[in-house]
Amino acid sequence: MFLPVIMAGGSGSRLWPLSRPLYPKQFLPLENNGHTLLQQTVQRLEKLDHLPPLLICNEEHRFLAAEQMRVKGTDHGGILLEPFGRNTAPAIALAAIGSMSNGNDPVLLVLAADHYMDDVAAFQEAVRKAQMAAEEGHLVTFGIKPTHPETGYGYVKAGEDGAQDYIPVESFVEKPDEVTAQRYLAEGGYYWNSGMFMFKASRYLEELGKYRPDILEACQHSMAHISADMDFLRIDTAAFEACPSESIDYAVMEHTDSAVVVPMEAGWSDVGSWSAVWEVNDKDEAGNVSHGDVAIHQSSNCLAYSQSRLVSLVGLDNIMVVETKDAVLVASRDSAQEVKTLVERLKTEQ
Ligand code: GDD
Ligand code: MG
Repeated sequence: MFLPVIMAGGSGSRLWPLSRPLYPKQFLPLENNGHTLLQQTVQRLEKLDHLPPLLICNEEHRFLAAEQMRVKGTDHGGILLEPFGRNTAPAIALAAIGSMSNGNDPVLLVLAADHYMDDVAAFQEAVRKAQMAAEEGHLVTFGIKPTHPETGYGYVKAGEDGAQDYIPVESFVEKPDEVTAQRYLAEGGYYWNSGMFMFKASRYLEELGKYRPDILEACQHSMAHISADMDFLRIDTAAFEACPSESIDYAVMEHTDSAVVVPMEAGWSDVGSWSAVWEVNDKDEAGNVSHGDVAIHQSSNCLAYSQSRLVSLVGLDNIMVVETKDAVLVASRDSAQEVKTLVERLKTEQ
């Protein structure tokens, strides 16, 4: 038995104009099966022996989150609301502290709400292996075989591969620069950190206390006064305001001696850009992905996403068109990462 903790507080700015501060990526149906990434995260847990998942997200997304959990008919263990984001190290700390309130010390499966996987059985197998390691006191990451020198991920160097289902982590480097990432790939023996973790609540808090006692203390104060309103759990805003913002990767995973990695081959993607959305979706014979009211003619390897109007493509290759009520993005598939820069520019210019 373990407690899934689903982190759903991110902003997903590279998926503009569909992903917006008020309606970020995890609440969007990015695959043509109609389910949102959050709903698929919950669905993927089916058949595993777990407690009702605890969701942790921003106050302003509470109704979206509650509605999507309700539509899936999911029995959930509450929705913990942050008045503002302080990144993942505090979010997980709040969940861990909350999970221990009745003298329990559950194993937590910390999941990002915005990932894609096409092999659920492989994911579940990895979780079973990770659970054993977590029960022994390790902090488990799930390792993905790297395919290119991505600088947006953490890199885990695996140590000696023993007889166990998990491998000790020799080093963990969060978001290295391009040259370093290329070197890791050339050297071999590295995994990408998938951004999912498994550990006992107490072990996470111990390690956080060792390396970032300031974060631990602020989170303890924030959880000292919780108010419950239906399924929503609210923390002490003033106390959380004092909490530094940091990710679990920088705060704990880069420093701890207790990290192990469970390799996972589940067709994982963090769907971080429109080209990744193209990659994970079903395509027609010409390699086009369409979503919504779309007409495609003599075009190949395109993505057309329509929210409110008919979108038609003629004679295009490798182009992505994303239509929403107030903004349209037209981009080449090779420039998908640049959308984030464009969004930054729009923010300063408007
Ligand atoms: N509740 C809550 N509060 N959730 C948050 C917050 C927050 O303040 N910030 C981020 N999240 C959620 C996001 O919604 C996402 O589901 C998850 O936590 C990870 O945050 P990201 O902001 O997407 O992290 P990242 O993609 O830059 O990096 C992480 O994931 C990579 C894999 O996708 C790291 O763990 C990397 O090491 C990893 O490779
Ligand atoms: Mg991410």
